[in-house]
Amino acid sequence: MRVDTTGKISLDHIYTRPDPRSYFSTLRELDYNIPELAKPHFSRLITEYRDAYGTAAPSVLDIGCSYGINAALLKYDATMAQLYDRYSGPDAQGQTRGTLLARDRELVRSGEPANHVRFLGLDASDNALSYAIEAGFLDGAVHADLEDGEPTDTQRQQLAETDLVISTGCLGYVTEKTISRIIEAHGTRRPWMAHFVLRMFPFAPIAECLAGAGYRTVRRDGFFRQRRFATPEEQSLVLDRLSDVGVDPQGLETGGWLYAQLYISRPG
Ligand SMILES: C[S@@+](CC[C@H](N)C(=O)[O-])C[C@H]1O[C@@H](n2cnc3c(N)ncnc32)[C@H](O)[C@@H]1O
Repeated sequence: MRVDTTGKISLDHIYTRPDPRSYFSTLRELDYNIPELAKPHFSRLITEYRDAYGTAAPSVLDIGCSYGINAALLKYDATMAQLYDRYSGPDAQGQTRGTLLARDRELVRSGEPANHVRFLGLDASDNALSYAIEAGFLDGAVHADLEDGEPTDTQRQQLAETDLVISTGCLGYVTEKTISRIIEAHGTRRPWMAHFVLRMFPFAPIAECLAGAGYRTVRRDGFFRQRRFATPEEQSLVLDRLSDVGVDPQGLETGGWLYAQLYISRPG
């Protein structure tokens, strides 16, 4: 398996397919579960935001939203186990993109939203975003790589309307460049932020960028299992990287899993 410059295996090929089957069948093998672990934390923050500002249906921006996974979990109360079954269970290969979408739209239609929120997804994968919009998981999409360039005027306006910014499995690849472009798009407003970030990616540059914009960042207690290492080679390269950035892997990554931490940033 190919590894990228960080030592992690490259999974780029599963982010750009027309439907989520490769994504879920590949990540199932690795027990990828961070969106499920993140769900109660994001849910609590949305409630706190609603209570603090009296916003009935806050608008959430999900950076690296892929096929709308956090939206499906938070807005429609899906679970990762259900999504794994839906897209990589016994009948998944007999489905088409159209029949998968029909089943997803039924999920969206059938239930009262679990959380009254609007979801805007930002991702570099057009195919993933199109799927999430057609399924009804996302209310809006921004197809952009803000590491690489400024948002268009329309995208800036979409970003500016969001109240909370969240991410799972994306920061590290997405850096303070993207975060600062999102903040700039908001003008003087400051959306709350909650990011789950692998321990191999130092959060300090992002925290500094946020501090410069008037945010106070708090790391929540706890380590969150993101997924298993794909190969002993990947584990060894990531252990090297952790050592390079001064993180002690004993009792955590040495046990075979990649771990993330949760950072919450609010205007302070
Ligand atoms: C590991 S997936 C995480 C997806 C989802 N958040 C989850 O936890 O299941 C990473 C996502 O980040 C997106 N991504 C990577 N680099 C990006 C960039 N520079 N700008 C926007 N999205 C990016 C990929 O297309 C992919 O959908």
